[in-house]
Amino acid sequence: MTEDAKTIPSEGGRSPARALVRSYGCQMNVYDAARMSDLLAKEGYDAAAREEDAELVVLNTCHIREKAAEKIYSELGRLAVLKEERRAQGKSLEIVVAGCVAQAEGELVMRRQRAVDLVVGPQSYHRLPALLKEAREGARVADTDFAAREKFQALPAPTKAQIAARGVSAFVTVQEGCDKFCSFCVVPYTRGAEISRKVESIIEEARRLVDGGVREIVLIGQNVNAYRGEDEAGRSTPLEGLFERLSAFDDLTRLRYTTSHPVDMTEGLIDAHASLEKLAPFLHLPVQSGSDRVLKEMNRRHDARHYLDVVERLRRVRPDIAISSDFIVGFPGETEEDFQATLALIDAVEFASSFFFKYSPRPGTPGAEREDQIDEDTKRDRLARLEARVEAQRRAFNAATVGRTLEVLFEKQGRHDGQIAGKSPYMQAVHVDGDEGEIGRLRPVKIVAAGPNSLSGEIVEAREFA
Ligand code: SAH
Ligand code: SF4
Ligand code: F3S
Repeated sequence: MTEDAKTIPSEGGRSPARALVRSYGCQMNVYDAARMSDLLAKEGYDAAAREEDAELVVLNTCHIREKAAEKIYSELGRLAVLKEERRAQGKSLEIVVAGCVAQAEGELVMRRQRAVDLVVGPQSYHRLPALLKEAREGARVADTDFAAREKFQALPAPTKAQIAARGVSAFVTVQEGCDKFCSFCVVPYTRGAEISRKVESIIEEARRLVDGGVREIVLIGQNVNAYRGEDEAGRSTPLEGLFERLSAFDDLTRLRYTTSHPVDMTEGLIDAHASLEKLAPFLHLPVQSGSDRVLKEMNRRHDARHYLDVVERLRRVRPDIAISSDFIVGFPGETEEDFQATLALIDAVEFASSFFFKYSPRPGTPGAEREDQIDEDTKRDRLARLEARVEAQRRAFNAATVGRTLEVLFEKQGRHDGQIAGKSPYMQAVHVDGDEGEIGRLRPVKIVAAGPNSLSGEIVEAREFA
């Protein structure tokens, strides 16, 4: 929520209520949380920075691994205590559970934690004001309908101040849901079937963001490269079609997209990395495993060779492209030999960075039903070995940029006065000594050192840019 959110005293002359939307999980949840905050601001809520200052708390939850889901229940326990204290003082606290735990567990959330007032799924949050009203009238409401198309039309457009709060880089959801049904994953159940937003509505939202000062747009979707949206003439448009349209915005400096699936990396999208200057040379392309047997059992629909081919084709058209991935260790039945195949794939690709997870059996997914689950010690051991391998690659990738001049898009102030921070084309955090006025600009930066989590450098004159 933004500071200029208009405050409308609620009925009965109570002082204006304050709301806090807390987000967990992936980028789409971050985007959804921003849109929920905008919606609540329109309803008259002020922004609260902490739960203690809020009369309404929305937890925008993630269900991807058991730990993520359980964290929500401990947070809800804390909120329930706060609500009790408020009640004793004659005050109130409304608790809403949104996001993927809401979708997966529905009413069960309210049964596990009685203090919850409302459960709202990722495709219904545009109805938040009406649902809150129902809950206030005494109904126990759990809305987990799947009507994503309606959602984007129903949400209010963000105001100028709300856009300013997004910062230099903003997410735009273009595709939602998943039809892939990887055998470990809850997303097809929590986000529903794949849908693509219409081109026009995306362009309109992007236009507004760029006019409001946004300089980088990250197009997001659970399978963003499966995007096939209808344009104004009713033609099906692939993701690169959106990039072409957005490239024409003068004030837009950089374009990114996430998350892509290897089977949807088409020639057209690969070629866009060669032809579209604003498209950053970075791709997050999760592979999960390097073993063909495990990939098949995960229902990933491709083998290791296909993944390596995609990387090779990308590097042919854009030699400096940085690739990152997600890995799961300890999928049911994974042998040491399978795991070695994953390490071999890591060696073959040389990733710029990666995320890695221990397999977590999720209720309702085929993987959870299997009897050949891997024990915790083996998972932990494999995770540590995989981490060592990908972290070494990340450090090597970062070290290799020292001495080079990279175009950095500055996003915010740094850790101390006189320092600003931004991102390299390869998604690396970069710190320089510089003026706040550089925020929002793309500037050549000579990299002088690589730390564990970020690079540091100096802004150089454009003509020195090699
Ligand atoms: N295509 C999706 C993937 C979402 S899940 C996207 O939009 O990002 C992000 C990552 O979580 C997956 O790539 C996978 O590596 C990991 N993951 C998913 N389910 C998991 C599970 N059951 N256990 C461990 N990791 C999991
Ligand atoms: Fe989950 Fe697989 Fe869909 Fe990604 S592609 S969201 S990992 S089912
Ligand atoms: Fe989590 Fe849902 Fe995203 S399960 S990773 S918040 S799509």
